[in-house]
Amino acid sequence: MPFDFTNSVATVTGAASGIGKACALAFAREGSDVVVSDINEDGAKVVVAEIEALGRKALAVKTDVSNKDEVDALVQASIEWKGHCDLFMSNAGIGLGGAPHMIPMEQWDAILAINLHSHIWAIHELLPHMLERGSGHLVHTASSAGTLGFPQLIPYCVTKFGVVGLCESLAAFLYDRNIGVSVICPLLVATNIHERSQSFGEEELPEDVQEQMRGFMRATMQSGLPPENVANDVIKAVKENHLYVFPHPELQGMIDAKWRDPDGWVRNQSQSWKAQADFMRQLVGSGSETQSGS
Ligand SMILES: NC(=O)c1ccc[n+]([C@@H]2O[C@H](COP(=O)([O-])OP(=O)(O)OC[C@H]3O[C@@H](n4cnc5c(N)ncnc54)[C@H](O)[C@@H]3O)[C@@H](O)[C@H]2O)c1
Repeated sequence: MPFDFTNSVATVTGAASGIGKACALAFAREGSDVVVSDINEDGAKVVVAEIEALGRKALAVKTDVSNKDEVDALVQASIEWKGHCDLFMSNAGIGLGGAPHMIPMEQWDAILAINLHSHIWAIHELLPHMLERGSGHLVHTASSAGTLGFPQLIPYCVTKFGVVGLCESLAAFLYDRNIGVSVICPLLVATNIHERSQSFGEEELPEDVQEQMRGFMRATMQSGLPPENVANDVIKAVKENHLYVFPHPELQGMIDAKWRDPDGWVRNQSQSWKAQADFMRQLVGSGSETQSGS
């Protein structure tokens, strides 16, 4: 049965900004009441006001998705608000990159919790409710980095490949139970994720060089797809019950090329990463080894 947004309850994590905010607003325009969840409570309240201005109900719930108890509480609050939760979008995420041996284990643990474990905790708590009702839709924000390995973003890729694996297998598990699963895999989207991203290179860079690199990253992010375009694709995928959401159509060709020649993919990635590092060195006028992540 196709998903009907009318009078549904949709919960979105990381909904104060970027893709999550655009999706929360799009769900409201389609007729959902929305639970707007974020670690940034003030930002969530702004989105609540925007949804109410559209004539729908909205509830701000402050949640740190790196904490299982808080994710469980968010799921329960979503169900208790109107007695049902019809759509849950696990979207909150951060970036982390650099040399894998230089990244502190606490940072590895944090990105695994935020970008991957939170998705597992949410379905673990929510699925009994959806299975009992015999309906629902789960949306998970992964990334192109969940389909292709990028050397500058190793921890990020680990989490996003995990989300893609979760969704593809979960979709088959739920196939004949009227619960849909969609996983979003964008390339670059114009959001503020670089503000919540870190990179640990093999060499310590001077603060002014790091600042120049951050400026370059900000400019690169702004060249991405508007988050509203991603939200439009999500609405279509939920209505038509499609698993994969590829807001950048060129991603399909990149995945096909990787599987035609996986070793060639690795070689090309290595070369383009080194070329990118050389470009950054020239940009900042530094002789240092550089790596960047988003
Ligand atoms: N921007 C891109 O180019 C891009 C590409 C592919 C995938 N993504 C994915 O899209 C998702 C949304 O990111 P975005 O680009 O909209 O970034 P964003 O930074 O604009 O939004 C992320 C939101 O998540 C929230 N958040 C961060 N840590 C949290 C935590 N521990 N608990 C609760 N909320 C938390 C932030 O406060 C923020 O509001 C992420 O999962 C990201 O990995 C982004």
